[in-house]
Amino acid sequence: MPDTKRISTARTAPHGGGIQVFYQGKGAIRRPTVARAEGIYMWDTDGRRYIDASSGPVVSNIGHGNARVLEAMVEQAKKIAFASRAVFENEPNARLADLVTGLAGPGLERAYFVSGGSEATETAIKLARQYAVAKGEATRWKVIGRDPGYHGATLGAASVTGDPQSEDIFAPLMPLMPKVPAPFTYRLPPNHDADSYARICAAALEDTIRREGAETILAFIIEPVGGLATGALVAPDHYYRTVREICDRYGILLIYDEVMSGAGRTGTFLAAEHWPDGRPDLVTLAKGIAAGYTPMGAVLAPAEMVETIAESGGFLHGHTYASNPLSCAIGHAVVSEMLAQDLMANAQRMGELLRSRLETLKTTSAILGDVRGKGLLLAIEIVADKAAKTILPAERKAVYRIIELGIERGLLLYSRRTAKGKYGEWLMITPPLIVNDAQVGEIAALVGETLHAYEKELRAAGVV
Ligand SMILES: Cc1ncc(COP(=O)(O)O)c(C=O)c1O
Repeated sequence: MPDTKRISTARTAPHGGGIQVFYQGKGAIRRPTVARAEGIYMWDTDGRRYIDASSGPVVSNIGHGNARVLEAMVEQAKKIAFASRAVFENEPNARLADLVTGLAGPGLERAYFVSGGSEATETAIKLARQYAVAKGEATRWKVIGRDPGYHGATLGAASVTGDPQSEDIFAPLMPLMPKVPAPFTYRLPPNHDADSYARICAAALEDTIRREGAETILAFIIEPVGGLATGALVAPDHYYRTVREICDRYGILLIYDEVMSGAGRTGTFLAAEHWPDGRPDLVTLAKGIAAGYTPMGAVLAPAEMVETIAESGGFLHGHTYASNPLSCAIGHAVVSEMLAQDLMANAQRMGELLRSRLETLKTTSAILGDVRGKGLLLAIEIVADKAAKTILPAERKAVYRIIELGIERGLLLYSRRTAKGKYGEWLMITPPLIVNDAQVGEIAALVGETLHAYEKELRAAGVV
C-alpha cells in the first residue's frame, strides 16, 4: 500500500501535476491543497484551518479576501485589464505612482511598476547603470551586495544576491558581484558586540570599493531590514548612516531592497524612514505593495535620475506587463486599504506585542535563541544551545521540520535554510498587518507548542 501522506499527488500525476513536481522529491510530505482564505486564516480542501503567521512568504500584508480590493479588481477588469505602455498612458498607473511616491517622500518622486521583486531588482540595477552612462560615468557597473542577502531569482538579481548555494550552480551564467559581510547582531566573531561588528562590516564596504576601484562601482544594495536571508536582521543605527556616507564619498548609489520590508510592514511605509540619515537613492518594493492580490513590484527613483535617462534617449528596459492598468488598480486598492485601516500603526503595536510574546517564549524554550526584527517583520532563531548559540546539526534541517510540525498544528510559518544553515537557522514570524491582539496570542501559543514539540524530538534524539 502506498503511504498516501508521504507520496505527493503532484508527483504521481501522469502529466501536469502542479508546481510541486519541481520541488518535492520522493518521500516528501504531501502538501495540502489550498481551498480558500479569509483575513489571516486559510483552509485546505479537507476543511482544515491554518493561521497565516507569515503572510505566506511575507506577502499578504492586508490579509486574504479583502472585499474592497476584490471590488476594485472587478471594476478595473471590466474597464480595461491591459493596454500597451508603448501606446497608452493609463490612469491607475498614474494614481498608484502618485500614492506610493507621496508616501515614500522627497527624493523618490518616480515609480516604475513591474511584476515582482526580482524584476524590481533588475529594473533598479539597469536604471542605475543607465544613469551612470548618461552622466558620462560608463566605467561604473559593479553592484556590491551583502553576504548573505537576497534580491531575487533572475540572473541579474542573483548576481548581487549573497547565496553560495545558488552560486554553486548558476555562477557560470552570470557575473558574480562583490559582496561584503551582513552585519549580523546575534552570532558574532570573537571579541565583537553588535556595534563593533557593524563597524567592521561598514568598513568592509569601503575596503571593497577601494580594492575594486571606486570608479568601477555603480551601487551598493542592501535589505535595510533583512528578509529570509538574514532572518529580519536589523543593524545598529550607525551602520545606515555610515554606509550612506561611504556611498556619498565615492559617488555610489545606495539601493534599498524593500521587497519584504516596504509597504508598511515595519510600521512605516518604507523601512528607510527609520534611518533618516541613511536615505537610499533607489528603493525596490514588491510583496506587500499588492499583498498577493496581483503579482507586482516597483522601483522608486528620484525625478532627476529619470529625467536624465529620458533625455539621454529613454530607459532601455521594459517588461510587457510593466505598469499595466489592472495590476496598478489592484496595487492602489491595496495601499489605500492599508492607509484606511491604519495598518502601519497596527504593525507597530502588534509588532511590539508579538515581539514581547516571543521574548517570553524565549525564556521557556531551550531552543529559541534570538528574537529580532522591526514592526511585524520578525524572526526567531533556533539553536541547539542557547548559552553557546550553537547551530543545530545541518542534517536535521531544523526549520523544515519545524514548518511541518507547525502545519500539523494549523500554524503556517516561513523559512528557508540560508547557505545550508551556515549562519544559523531562523523562521519568519510575519503575520498580515491586520492581525489583532487575540490572534497575536493564538500565534504565540502555537509557535510555543510547535517549538516545544521540536525540542522534544531533539531531546529524544539526544541533540539537546
Ligand atoms: C528582499 C527580497 N528581494 C527580492 C525578492 C524577489 O522577489 P520575487 O520573489 O517577487 O521575485 C525577495 C523575495 O523573497 C525578497 O525577499
